[in-house]
Amino acid sequence: MWLRISFGKNTMQQKSPSLKDRRIRSFVRRQGRLTSAQQLALEKYLPKFGLQTSNGIFDFTKEYKREAPTHLEIGFGNGQSVANMAVAHPENNYLGVEVHRPGVGNLLQLIHKQELTNVRVMTDDAFDVLQNNIADNSLAAVYIYFPDPWHKRCHTKRRIINPEFVTMLAAKMEIGGLLHMATDWEDYALHMMKVMNDMPQFKNSAGAGAYSPRPEWRTLTKFEQRGHRLGHDVWDLMFTKI
Ligand SMILES: C[S@@+](CC[C@H](N)C(=O)[O-])C[C@H]1O[C@@H](n2cnc3c(N)ncnc32)[C@H](O)[C@@H]1O
Repeated sequence: MWLRISFGKNTMQQKSPSLKDRRIRSFVRRQGRLTSAQQLALEKYLPKFGLQTSNGIFDFTKEYKREAPTHLEIGFGNGQSVANMAVAHPENNYLGVEVHRPGVGNLLQLIHKQELTNVRVMTDDAFDVLQNNIADNSLAAVYIYFPDPWHKRCHTKRRIINPEFVTMLAAKMEIGGLLHMATDWEDYALHMMKVMNDMPQFKNSAGAGAYSPRPEWRTLTKFEQRGHRLGHDVWDLMFTKI
């Protein structure tokens, strides 16, 4: 059975949860169409650069064929930010997790065109990936840029930044690791700050209660550009695991 969820003019569908699967998800599967190039990239390159949830806890040394710090981007959209970071920092491993298949296809195209060897991709719910595949204390950085704001009051429980999710992130990150978030929704920025302020595992890099200046290296993503068009401000939050 499918549920219909409305956002203004847009309607999305989500499979109704079975009795075994009652967790509230931070996304709905969008019906976005795959271009033929994205479809081809998924077929050709996902087997090469994709990691499988069924493989249990990952050994990053084996997956990337080297020892290097591993950075995770959750909900990477079209993947431009992961690709740019991977080009700028060949010394790091990057793992991108995104449920929207056209975006995954797009990132795979970028990986192929730019001959990136330090990126791996997953098409799964980040919650499941963290829970089933990521070893404790193994991530050097986590990026969550412009997560779905779920701004209607009845939807805020879907926000990916919530105490349960951030507690799991904290367990998976190395001490000294960076958690970097950005949003163009003021209410979500306040919510993120509140959640993070209540987490003893993290220290605000900008000082207690402060937002960070936008780092010039952060890619201007599709959703940040959309926020600009709507006249929204942008808030960056940077926290270090202590
Ligand atoms: C608003 S978009 C932002 C995309 C991109 N970061 C940007 O700034 O353009 C949020 C993205 O997060 C993805 N997403 C939401 N929850 C997720 C989850 N639990 N696991 C993986 N991806 C998720 C959605 O599919 C969507 O593409």
